[in-house]
Amino acid sequence: MKNLSAEHEELGRAVTKIIADCFRALDSARVCSEASPSEMEKIFDEPLPTKGVSAEEILHRFTGDVVPHAMNIPSPRYYGLFNPTPLPLAVWADALAAAINQNGAAWRNSPSASVIEARVLRWLCDLIGYPEESFGTLTSGGSEANLIALKCARDRAVDGIRDNGIAATTLGATKLIVYASEQCHYSLEKSVDILGLGRSNLRKIPVDERFHIRIDVLREEIERDRERGRIPLCVAGAAGATSTGIVDSLDELAEVARRHNLWFHVDAAYGGALAFSEKHRGRLRGIERADSVTIDPHKWMFVPFACGAVLVRGGARVLRDAFDITPEYLSEERGGGDVSFDFFRYGQLGSRRFNALKIWMALKNLGVRGYAEIIERQIELTNYFAARIDESKDFVRIGEVETAVCCFHFLPDDAKTYDGAALDRLQHALQQRVERSGEAWISTTVLNGRRTLRVNVNSFLTEHRHIDDLLELLSRESTRLMEEGSGE
Ligand SMILES: Cc1ncc(COP(=O)(O)O)c(C=O)c1O
Repeated sequence: MKNLSAEHEELGRAVTKIIADCFRALDSARVCSEASPSEMEKIFDEPLPTKGVSAEEILHRFTGDVVPHAMNIPSPRYYGLFNPTPLPLAVWADALAAAINQNGAAWRNSPSASVIEARVLRWLCDLIGYPEESFGTLTSGGSEANLIALKCARDRAVDGIRDNGIAATTLGATKLIVYASEQCHYSLEKSVDILGLGRSNLRKIPVDERFHIRIDVLREEIERDRERGRIPLCVAGAAGATSTGIVDSLDELAEVARRHNLWFHVDAAYGGALAFSEKHRGRLRGIERADSVTIDPHKWMFVPFACGAVLVRGGARVLRDAFDITPEYLSEERGGGDVSFDFFRYGQLGSRRFNALKIWMALKNLGVRGYAEIIERQIELTNYFAARIDESKDFVRIGEVETAVCCFHFLPDDAKTYDGAALDRLQHALQQRVERSGEAWISTTVLNGRRTLRVNVNSFLTEHRHIDDLLELLSRESTRLMEEGSGE
């Protein structure tokens, strides 16, 4: 038999060195590759390999071609899209999970993994203040979690819809309506489409000047839909909206949902982690009243991709009503265990990775206090950045800092006469200059119809000096932009 033990030992040593080297150079490494898509294609343009080559050679390609052109997401200078520096233990947990290669679909094929998954879900439910009977399932991310939540909402609302489809129910052509703010994540739009409700039946409710869903308009829309013979199905609140990081008024949304008998979902893919902090937990007030909650450990809990979760207050029964099925080869007698740990019954996935391991290890490693400390520091750093933006004469902050996101415009005196499209180009040009510098990466989004710069502090390595460097970089690049006349 091949000596896999020796092979793992040798590979482990080589890979450990690569990872350690990457992290040693992290602070000074470029944040973003300069290569274009076609340059990248050229590097990897090879036919299907006929003859195998050594692991050493392949790892050499990894360090030579993959790493230098990877987005440096773990960098303390990456201020992007809710993508975190991964915790070292969680990175290695992924390797351990791959090594024992559990298939977390049925308990029989993953006895310890399934029980650990249930434990991790229990902890997440406890974190957000859910009752004992609550349950959930790990997912590939927030998109899948939102889809599962809306499927539960749909199936609860309409008898027979799961088995017979919409057309065969008493619903006929009546439309089911889902409500969310216009700032909601696009996965909600995909979800209503996949569930056969139709994208046009996701009502996007306008937001107020702080980008919170307008509860008054929501109420009016629900009434109007009722009058028009439509069936209001679900309202989804945001806890950490993608563009702004804001948290909707969840308690008020819970009240609207209760009054109108709607399913209440909270997309806390990012902001759910506020629950770790006693100081910031109050922003989530009302989340415990939600019928379902999305929370992504691969966002503000610093585990590597891909790892999301959906939690359901009503417990396992709700998920099983929506997804349970018993194929012969996984029948209960043959499963040989407790079917309540068969996670294929709780979502659409069959084969499932042992993702619970990295969350289990991360939560044990940091504890609630460790998470709280990081999250509080990141919010404090974001407020520090926002205060410096407020002091600057060339930048204008847009919206509030409620999590670790700050949005702002570059608006120097010389650009005050620009029209909207020119201002959009100016924001884009500045983002591009920051990107090309390799010294940091920030994103843009659109708020109030205008291109807006966006900074998210999502690395637990980021310190004040990094924020100072970012401010200096913004000042330098914006000055050059205007000097070169490329602002317009
Ligand atoms: C608020 C929110 N919900 C859901 C998602 C989707 O998560 P994922 O990309 O893990 O599918 C995102 C992604 O950024 C998000 O910001």
